[in-house]
Amino acid sequence: MRNAEFSASVCQQTRIRLKWPEKLLKCLALMSMVTVEHLHKVFGRFTAVKDATFSIEKGEIVGFLGPNGAGKTTTMKMLTGYLPPTAGTASIAGYDIIDQPLEARRHLGYMPENVPLYDDMRVMQYLEYRAMLKGICGKAVRQQVGWVIDRCGLEPKRKNLISTLSKGYRQRVGLADALLGDPDLLILDEPTNGLDPNQIRQIRELVRSLAEEHTVILSTHILSEVEMICNKVIIIDQGQIKANDTPGNLTRNLRAAGRVSIEFKGDLDTVVRELEAFEPVKKVIVEAPLPGGWHHVIVRAEPGTDTREKAAAIIASHQFPMRHIYRHIPSLEDVFVEMTRKD
Ligand SMILES: Nc1ncnc2c1ncn2[C@@H]1O[C@H](COP(=O)(O)OP(=O)(O)OP(=O)(O)O)[C@@H](O)[C@H]1O
Ligand SMILES: [Mg+2]
Repeated sequence: MRNAEFSASVCQQTRIRLKWPEKLLKCLALMSMVTVEHLHKVFGRFTAVKDATFSIEKGEIVGFLGPNGAGKTTTMKMLTGYLPPTAGTASIAGYDIIDQPLEARRHLGYMPENVPLYDDMRVMQYLEYRAMLKGICGKAVRQQVGWVIDRCGLEPKRKNLISTLSKGYRQRVGLADALLGDPDLLILDEPTNGLDPNQIRQIRELVRSLAEEHTVILSTHILSEVEMICNKVIIIDQGQIKANDTPGNLTRNLRAAGRVSIEFKGDLDTVVRELEAFEPVKKVIVEAPLPGGWHHVIVRAEPGTDTREKAAAIIASHQFPMRHIYRHIPSLEDVFVEMTRKD
């Protein structure tokens, strides 16, 4: 009897103990700005997004990358409520996009790929109209519009007809629209698409400044832009999430991280054999011979290893001349190519 009571009490304690991690997980889920679970989108027979699962924490600036047709816009449209998912769930600021769409939308601002604007409206008039559509009323409309005009540098153009704006200013109007209501999350689909380098820089600075107070998901094909402003990268290819990490971790873990390029003269077979006998080396690739009898080899080794010292010692031990040794530092572009290549 006593044993049974003891077991029951242990069971109860265990149950109580189990409750806390569950609560903690729930709290963590609430702390996430975006939670995407097994999201799926099918158009007819074509699957555009397959089983996408990821989360984005408050304050993160996420670069959403992928080749043309990878599923970026489709995923963003599902998050913003423009497209219903075929399967799976997602939440914004803890609100389910299907069950609580209004609350979810209230927490996000969306700048679509091709910003749809009314050309015959003036900038301020358009933004006031958009503010009212978003449920902002009374004095708050003027306040909000004034604030977004100021944030997006639209003051000199506030009275201009939208049809007369340059592409860069049109993008700014799109950003200002997304900012109305000061949402926690900004979803920006290629905000610098089609802009000249100066305009790209201006929009980038604007996004960077917005990121100080907002969580941002930014889709772009300009990888240097992502390296400059994003602290997280999600790569999607053929509808599948291929990577989800910080730019630093992605480049560090890349196969190319262990790649060393060497140019030397002397007996090629000896050097290749001795290099391949070295533990972290996986393969030595012999490139086409260079003029003047120089050999060019690429040493592929375990990620995170540096084979330069050992390689230099091997070549020096035979007194072969060496004119170049270089460790390849992978960039986000290398990560992108590695994750999305078709071979
Ligand atoms: N409404 C639709 N009906 C049928 N197919 C669609 C529809 N919308 C998108 N697709 C297809 O889904 C795939 C993903 O498209 P999506 O626009 O999400 O790509 P993306 O990653 O945003 O590409 P890009 O870099 O070119 O903007 C594409 O093959 C596209 O043709
Ligand atoms: Mg797109």
